[in-house]
Parts: sequence; C-alpha cells; structure tokens
Amino acid sequence: MAENFTSEIYSDWMRSTQEKKYKEILLDFIIPLRGKIDLENSKIADIGIGKGWFEKKAVESGFDINTVGLDIEKMDMATDRIDLVVGSGDYIPFKDSSFDVVLSFDTVHLLKKPWEIERILSEGGHAIISTHCNERNFKRKGDKVKSLFDLEVLKEGLVGDPDDEMSYVVLFRNGSVV
Ligand SMILES: C[S@@+](CC[C@H](N)C(=O)[O-])C[C@H]1O[C@@H](n2cnc3c(N)ncnc32)[C@H](O)[C@@H]1O
Repeated sequence: MAENFTSEIYSDWMRSTQEKKYKEILLDFIIPLRGKIDLENSKIADIGIGKGWFEKKAVESGFDINTVGLDIEKMDMATDRIDLVVGSGDYIPFKDSSFDVVLSFDTVHLLKKPWEIERILSEGGHAIISTHCNERNFKRKGDKVKSLFDLEVLKEGLVGDPDDEMSYVVLFRNGSVV
C-alpha cells in the first residue's frame, strides 16, 4: 500500500517546476564547473533518487552518465542509465570514499544520518545536496544543510519556481585535493 502510494505520488512528478529545478542545477551548478566536476567520468551516487528525474534531464541534456541510485522504495526509473539499489540512506550500503559525485535532491531532511553522504564521498569529490524551501526560509534551510557536513561549500543558491516549489542547493567539495 505505502509503496504503491509513493510510486503513485512520484509517477508524474516531472512537472514543469521539477524540470526547471533540474535544468537550473545543470546550468548553474554543473556546467560552469565542468573543469572540476566531470560527471561523465565520475562514479555518481544519488541518495533518495526517487524515479531519477535529474538523471533523465541530464541524459536528455547530453550528459553521458551512469548513476547508482539508492532509494528506500522500489520505483521504475525514468531512464535506464541508473542502477537502482533499494535500501536506506540511514545506513548507506556503499563503501567509504567510493563515489566522486554524490547527489541528493530534496531528501536530506528524511535521513537520520545525513553524514553518511560524506562517508561515501571520495577525497576531492563533490556533493550536490538540495532541500525544499521557500523565499522566507531558504537561508535557514541552507544553513541547516551546510551544518550537517564537514565539507567546503563551493556554491549555493535557489532553484525552482517561487509560485510553486523551490529548493536550496549546496555544492560541496571534499578535502584538499585540487
Ligand atoms: C522528495 S523525494 C525526492 C526524489 C528525487 N531525489 C527527486 O528529486 O525527484 C524523496 C525520496 O527519498 C526517498 N526516501 C525517503 N526516506 C529515505 C531513506 N531513509 N533512505 C533512502 N531514501 C529515502 C523517498 O522514497 C523518495 O523517493
């Protein structure tokens, strides 16, 4: 019942606002940093991947990527470029330092141990974490996300539609490797 309900909620989730968010994340957080973040040659994990709408948008935008997606619910993926692992982000079933890029969109508030994201990030790797917010609370939400991780903040900002749904996005870098 719960699984069906969750799948139902996310089944038509790539609404225009979501699509706008993922496009802005690609345009504002990934493409300008292409010299540093090389999605196509990176091991990528997405924690709380949902149906993988970000990956679908990235592939449609020309990124030749493959992602390991973790989600507590088993859902059909929006693109076949995802290896889905069904499991909890509270005890991420991946080795320490095993991913160059760790994504987690609008899920961090659901995780009991969000710092697990940092554990699986390689030295010099990047994490892009977003959280739902609005125009009044985005600063507090962003500060909360930043307080969860001992990682360098490279970039942060709002994405989405103020009249519908917004997220605050933080791009982090792990450690001292340039
Ligand atoms: C708001 S949705 C975001 C989905 C996706 N990241 C996106 O942007 O479309 C939150 C996702 O987190 C998953 N989730 C909730 N609790 C989780 C947990 N403890 N571990 C892993 N995934 C979880 C849900 O099943 C859902 O797919």
